[in-house]
Amino acid sequence: MCGIVGYIGHREAYPIVIKGLKRLEYRGYDSAGVMIYDGDAIKLCKTKGKVVDLEERASKEITTNGTIGIGHTRWATHGVPNDVNSHPHLSNSGDLVIIHNGIIENYAPLKVELIKRGYVFHSDTDTEVLVNLIEEVQKNENIKLGKAVQIALNQVVGAYAIAVFDKKNPNEIVAARLGSPLAIGIGEGEYFIASDASPFIEYTSNAVYLEDGEMAVIRLHKKMKVRKIKDDSLVDPYIQELQMNLEQIEKGGYDHFMLKEIYEQPSVIKDTYRGRLHANEGIIQMAGVEDNLEKFLNADRIIIVACGTSWHAGLVAEYIFEEFARISVEVEYASEFRYRNPIINSNDVVIAISQSGETADTMAAIKLAKENGAFVFGVCNVVGSSISRETHAGAYTHAGPEIGVASTKAFTTQITVLTMIALRLAKAKGTLSLSDFHMYLQELELIPEKVREALETNDRAKEIAATFKDAPNCLYLGRGYNFPVALEGALKLKEISYIHAEGYPAAEMKHGPIALIDEQMPVVVIAPKQGHYDKIVSNIQEIKSRSGRIIAVVTKGDTQVRELADYVIEIPETSDALSPLITTIPLQLLSYHIAVMRECNVDQPRNLAKSVTVE
Ligand code: M6R
Repeated sequence: MCGIVGYIGHREAYPIVIKGLKRLEYRGYDSAGVMIYDGDAIKLCKTKGKVVDLEERASKEITTNGTIGIGHTRWATHGVPNDVNSHPHLSNSGDLVIIHNGIIENYAPLKVELIKRGYVFHSDTDTEVLVNLIEEVQKNENIKLGKAVQIALNQVVGAYAIAVFDKKNPNEIVAARLGSPLAIGIGEGEYFIASDASPFIEYTSNAVYLEDGEMAVIRLHKKMKVRKIKDDSLVDPYIQELQMNLEQIEKGGYDHFMLKEIYEQPSVIKDTYRGRLHANEGIIQMAGVEDNLEKFLNADRIIIVACGTSWHAGLVAEYIFEEFARISVEVEYASEFRYRNPIINSNDVVIAISQSGETADTMAAIKLAKENGAFVFGVCNVVGSSISRETHAGAYTHAGPEIGVASTKAFTTQITVLTMIALRLAKAKGTLSLSDFHMYLQELELIPEKVREALETNDRAKEIAATFKDAPNCLYLGRGYNFPVALEGALKLKEISYIHAEGYPAAEMKHGPIALIDEQMPVVVIAPKQGHYDKIVSNIQEIKSRSGRIIAVVTKGDTQVRELADYVIEIPETSDALSPLITTIPLQLLSYHIAVMRECNVDQPRNLAKSVTVE
């Protein structure tokens, strides 16, 4: 995790670096730091806390308008968040400065060796080891920074996106990546370095995304040189035109990114199916699926690997694929999958779901699947992300940048993509009747409008939030397609409001969790009219008999559950299989309002980061 930013050019570096760090704060926000080179000396300022804390401190400490700078916003791995462990880190001579996103796994033996050679360490970080290793190489070999970085990186094990500056040769920054993302923006006589393109989109729309194992020597007024770290071979970097715009990464009048992203769902779901779903013609067309249709059709089974919210979308997809396309599906936590000895065959199709496209566990699961000969299909949001490049084929969700740490629009757009794939396969296999196939296509096209309607539950969700904001625990229950929605509702609540919440299949309640129910326990029950309605009504009765406080998400016009529940939230009707796209909306709003009322940091909840690039 962590966000890194660098600038070298003709503009004042400090404001660019600070603004960039603010945009990257979703990646980590426990400490931050900046280095500006003033043409003569290195000005360094770092602190525990957020980028605003850094800004306050830097306003007194950084008084230069130097045009070269690097900055870092941290999600701690090695060493607690404090001023000393914050990046940038200096080498012992004070000449080299580094920022690093990732983990150097063999830092301990390297550190021992460096200590033997007289190096002194001030922080507990692996990064300080790396910068001193680079210094040691440079000193011994009497070489320039680029070469020293390359030699040092060939000695380290782990993951990194780094930017290194050398005061002795101040017209360049050296950047490298392995396992952590790194984008380089190319402007007129200036370069930008960042964990993603958001820090530089107002300056240039040309960017190079370094591939794993590549490094770049970025010199003022010179063409950037990219080479492979391992064998030194030169690479001709592919310059991409960026799709992102400034508006997409700003709050646009909302109090929080999370709320903005919740409200974006009608339009981004439309973006997800635009050009792919043609309901009137009965066509679903996705290039990645069409090009590999035989692979999907001949698959013995589909294995879905993902983490967190993306894993919940995978669970919804399991139900949809099995029902629509009659393909057996297994859904795996990527973090578990990679560490056991899973049976993967060349006839398996593995679908990797990831909003960021950078999640380390999902990436490792993909590599394992590929090693075992499986065809791997990615469902990612971030265009050009590591996972989208590592997979054999894929489909983007087109949800636009998701900045709130709690995933919202990523979830609904992932389900949209996965539903379209299942429908396409069902058509090819003839596992859905033609009338059902057409019905689902029409229904899917209506989803954005229904999500818009579901967003009208905002005031109701706020009212209910006011009643339950102080609850210490909360249960979420759902059945069938809405069981994963219960899990997702619980995850949303716990991650942003710090209320302990659990999601359960409603029928499992009687096998244990029912013991938790008393008059203090709020139970959110997802009970739309379709699916297992009668069964869930019985589950609600069971909660009622034990004095639980029921908040039910029901289909508009429902009367039966209304009589039993303490609070109802009405949502528009849709088919059972598509209902997660609607039922999840009031749950997102409920968590959001509870978190706001508890004065939690909604967009940057404690201990979390948006993109989990560590194992
Ligand atoms: O970027 P990814 O979809 O791979 O991220 C997976 C999880 O880290 C992510 O969904 C996480 O659980 C979110 N904070 C949930 O809101």
